[in-house]
Amino acid sequence: MGRRKSYILVAILVILISMEVAIVLGQGNGNNNGNGNSGSGNGNGNGNNNSNGSESGNGNGNGNGNGGGNGNGNGNGNGNNNGGGNGNGNGNGNGNGNVNNNGNGNGNGNGNGNGNGNGNGNGNGDGNGNGNGNGNGNGNGNAAAANKYDMKKAVEGTGQQRALCKSKGACYNMTLTCPAQCPERKPKKNKKNKGCFINCNSKCEAVCKYRKPKCDGYGSLCYDPRFVGGDGVMFYFHGAKGSDFAVVSDNNLQINAHFIGSRPTGRTRDYTWVQALSVMFDSHTLVLAAKRVAHWDDKVDSLTVTYDGQIITIPSDGEAEWRSNGIEREVIVERTDDTNTVKVSVAGLLEMDVKVTPIKEKENKVHNYQLPISNDAFAHLETQFKFFDLSDLVEGVLGKTFRPGYVSPVKKGVPMPMMGGEDKYQTPSLYSPVCRVCLFHRQSALAAAM
Ligand SMILES: *[C@@H]1O[C@H](CO)[C@@H](O)[C@H](O)[C@H]1NC(C)=O
Ligand SMILES: *[C@@H]1O[C@H](CO)[C@@H](O)[C@H](O)[C@H]1NC(C)=O
Ligand SMILES: *[C@@H]1O[C@H](CO)[C@@H](O)[C@H](O)[C@H]1NC(C)=O
Repeated sequence: MGRRKSYILVAILVILISMEVAIVLGQGNGNNNGNGNSGSGNGNGNGNNNSNGSESGNGNGNGNGNGGGNGNGNGNGNGNNNGGGNGNGNGNGNGNGNVNNNGNGNGNGNGNGNGNGNGNGNGNGDGNGNGNGNGNGNGNGNAAAANKYDMKKAVEGTGQQRALCKSKGACYNMTLTCPAQCPERKPKKNKKNKGCFINCNSKCEAVCKYRKPKCDGYGSLCYDPRFVGGDGVMFYFHGAKGSDFAVVSDNNLQINAHFIGSRPTGRTRDYTWVQALSVMFDSHTLVLAAKRVAHWDDKVDSLTVTYDGQIITIPSDGEAEWRSNGIEREVIVERTDDTNTVKVSVAGLLEMDVKVTPIKEKENKVHNYQLPISNDAFAHLETQFKFFDLSDLVEGVLGKTFRPGYVSPVKKGVPMPMMGGEDKYQTPSLYSPVCRVCLFHRQSALAAAM
């Protein structure tokens, strides 16, 4: 439970810190009932719930424990349920009961809302006869996606988009208007403009934000390669040029990175960058890759996106997005600039902002990379990830840092803290979910054909 709590803290921190995550928060309903009998005494545990989901989360924690002994014990427990798109809830309760003046009752309630609410209720009662009663109960609730709103007619003249909030809670029935500086949610003509983010969840506001990876933000992977973990700790992981490493490996998701780089004469290791990422889930594989270009030009698109082996075309006009077909998990790839920048969403699993960028002459000099950039721009990816469904045992260079209670092994206070583990995370290819500690298994062999 300690781990679970830390995980929740990290998850909540990540939610608070990553500015754009407030989009999918949820309503969770969970009920927990626990009953336990042992001995001849009676103990009751009542749970009080504090629901603090974004908008509306409901949780009930009831623990009934009957403890051996001669008396009756009453215990009160408190449970908290937080419901969020990624919502996690946690509740602990302590209560005192009387059993011949000697009774204790404890009630614990835990709730997780991740589409589902799970809860446990424990109740203990101690009587004269030293009897203990434990009751465990599990309850499942439902959590629906929140931040619901309907678009309304834009403000005439300025074109500022407006939304009517439908999420239950503080913002319900409020009309939010996009600021004049960013009148549209998805700026079409010039995507360099900030987009309007509507938050009907907790903040009841519409604000302007750039839709680019933040290389200093949680869950980022940029530069040569520098990570900021889910715990907020920055580190470098060198890998090796031409090799592939598991960035995230979990039961339902794997993300591998292909490293490019160079080793200047006299050095003992490679300078490396991430040239491609393959995102594997269910039976699908989505690959984002920077093309090898000799001379960089901002106006030329140097990003290729492949879904299950097929190159996909992301329109530049209109909604400027590509969506997967079918009733499965929805995948959306949306341009967030005219070229070289996209936002990827895989429903229920992750969002990532990705940008293709070159090594510039100045960087080459400053860092003394000694790259032959006269004929290779070393186009590579800058990425920021947001995860919605990681398990407690998630693996991978970055994934592991999202574990509950994770303590970073890297040295703090040095300019380039290093993360080792190349041997544990290396995969045979960009598309292979296999590494020494990897957890993911494909649902079918479909993508293996690639
Ligand atoms: C639990 O929370 C819900 C929603 O806030 C509330 O309606 C309900 O009365 C609460 N139950 C208890 C036992 O406090
Ligand atoms: C719920 O959390 C918000 C901040 O996240 C806080 O302002 C509010 O007071 C909390 N409500 C309850 C009932 O704890
Ligand atoms: C929503 O707001 C409008 C205008 O303020 C009001 O007429 C309407 O009754 C409200 N609806 C609900 C369900 O509160």
